[in-house]
Amino acid sequence: MSDPVDPTTTQAWAELTELKAAFEPDLRGWFAADPGRVDDLTFAAGDLVVDLSKNLVNTGVLAALVRLAEEVDLPGRRAAMFSGQHINVTENRAVLHTALRKPRGATLEVDGVEVVGEVHDVLTKVYAFAEKVRSGEWTGVTGAPIETVVNIGIGGSDLGPVMVYEALKPYVKPGLEVRFVSNIDPTDVYEKTADLNPATTLFIVASKTFTTLETLTNARMARDWLLRGLLSAGAIVEGEEAARAAVAKHFVAVSTALDKVAAFGIDPENAFGFWDWVGGRYSVDSAIGTSVAVAIGPDNFAEFLAGFHAIDEHFLNTPLAENVPALMGLLNVWYVNFFDARTHAVLPYAQYLHRFAAYLQQLTMESNGKSVRWDGSPVTTKTGEVFWGEPGTNGQHAFYQLIHQGTQLIPADFIAVANPARPLVDGDKDVHELFLANFFAQTAALAFGKTADEVRAEGTPEPIVPARVFSGNRPTTSIMAPALTPSVVGQLIALYEHITFTQGIVWGIDSFDQWGVELGKQLALKVTPAVAGDETALAEQDASTQSLIRYYLSQRTR
Ligand code: F6P
Repeated sequence: MSDPVDPTTTQAWAELTELKAAFEPDLRGWFAADPGRVDDLTFAAGDLVVDLSKNLVNTGVLAALVRLAEEVDLPGRRAAMFSGQHINVTENRAVLHTALRKPRGATLEVDGVEVVGEVHDVLTKVYAFAEKVRSGEWTGVTGAPIETVVNIGIGGSDLGPVMVYEALKPYVKPGLEVRFVSNIDPTDVYEKTADLNPATTLFIVASKTFTTLETLTNARMARDWLLRGLLSAGAIVEGEEAARAAVAKHFVAVSTALDKVAAFGIDPENAFGFWDWVGGRYSVDSAIGTSVAVAIGPDNFAEFLAGFHAIDEHFLNTPLAENVPALMGLLNVWYVNFFDARTHAVLPYAQYLHRFAAYLQQLTMESNGKSVRWDGSPVTTKTGEVFWGEPGTNGQHAFYQLIHQGTQLIPADFIAVANPARPLVDGDKDVHELFLANFFAQTAALAFGKTADEVRAEGTPEPIVPARVFSGNRPTTSIMAPALTPSVVGQLIALYEHITFTQGIVWGIDSFDQWGVELGKQLALKVTPAVAGDETALAEQDASTQSLIRYYLSQRTR
C-alpha cells in the first residue's frame, strides 16, 4: 500500500479550515431558506434512506469533504480493499470481508487463490449443519434434538453474532434458543448454562485464532459441565471414549486454526473454517455467524449476506457525492477534526437493535482508535471518536439531556424502521406510531431547538427561561428502512463498516489491526501467578498492582 496522504496537507483541508472559521450553524435558517435542502441531502443505499439534512453542512462543506476523500485517494484505497490487496499493512494481510457476501458464482482471486468459491463451500457446510440442527436430524449423544445453542466467543466472535441474533429474534425458529458466553468471569458461563439440559445443548466455540484465553477457558468449563451433567444423568459412562463421543455430538467450532480445534478435542469434521483476511470485528458474515444461521435458517442468512452485498456495491460504485457510507464517514471527520467532537451516539429506535451500539464499539473503536499511521508515522490529526448509544426511547430518559443542552457537540445517528416486527396496540393507539413520533421529534428538537422567545411565549417565568432554551444546531443523521429484515440488518452493518473504512483512510490508519489489545493480554498472563499468591511474581509487580493484589488476597474467602 502506498504511503498515506497527510489529510492536513491537502487543499481540501485548507478549504475546510477556512469554511469552518466562517461557519455559523443555522439549521432553522437553512431549512427556511432552502426548500430543496432535504431532497438534496437525502440519499438511498439499498433499502436504507438516509437523511443528512440535519447535519451542520452546506453544499460548500460537502463539496470540500468530497474533495478531501479524493485527495487522500479514497477511491483507490477502496479498490485496493475490494480487490484483495494487502491493505492491512501491519499484519500484511488482505482485507476481504466484502468477499464473504459475494454471490455464488462471482469470482475473486487473492494471492493466487479463488476465494469466492471457498467462501461458498464453507457456507454450504454451515447451512447443511444449520438445517440438521433445526430439523432435529442432528441430535445430542442421547438422541435428543438440540434445543439450545451456546456460542462461546469474545470480541468479534461474540458481539456480531449476539447483536444479529437479538436484531432478528422474530426470525428465530420457535423452540430453539441461542445463548452467548463471552466473559472469562465464571459467572457468565455459570448463568448461561445453569438451567440447561446437557442432553439438548450444543456448544459452538467461535474463535478466529483459537488461542483466546477467555474462549478456551469457557470452552473447557463448558465441556466439564456437559460431561458432568451427562454422567450424572446416566447418559454416558466414565472414560475417554464416551467423553470423546459426547464432545463430538455437543461441540462444534469455528476458526481459522483448524489444527488447534483438533488439539482441543473437537472433530475437524465438525469445524467451520474461515480465513486470515477476515478481521474478527468484520466476521459475523463468515462462519462466525453459524449460531445465527442455525437460529434463523439458511434462507434468512443468505438474505442477511445479500444485504451486506447491496451496500458493498453501493459503496464501490456510487459517486462520492452520493455515496452514503463515504458521506457519513466524511461528516464524522468534519465533526471530529473541525468541531472537536469526541463521541458519536448511535440511537436505534428499534428495541431489537439493543446490542447494535455495543457491536459498533468494537467495529469503530478497535478499527480507528490508533495514533500511528500505516507507514508507522504519527497521525497528524485527532482520530477515532467514542461510539456509544442505547435504543430510544430509553436513552431519552437517561442521557439525551446532555445531547440537547450539554456543552459538547455529539453527532448522533437515529435509526428507525417503518414496520415493526410486532405491531401492537394500546387501546386504539398504534404503539409503533407513538414510538416513531419520538424518533421524529427528537431529531427536530436537536436541529431546531427552542428560542428564549418561544419559551417565554409558553408563560415560563423569566428566571427559568435560560434553563428551558434549546440551542438547536445539534447534528443528526436519520436512517430509515421499511422493516428490520435480515437484509436490512446486513445493510446496516455494511454501512458502518464502510463509514469506519472511510474515516480510517482519511486519517491514514490501518483500520484492520488491533495491537492495542495486546499489552493488557500479556500483562494478565504475567500477573496470574501473583494473583494465585506467588510471592516472587507478586514482587515483580508495580507498587499499585501489588497493593491491589494484596487487598484481594486478604479478602479472599476461598
Ligand atoms: O480483542 C482482540 C481480538 O483479537 C478481537 O479483535 C477479536 O475479535 C477477539 O479478540 C476474539 O479473537 P478470536 O476470535 O481469535 O478468539
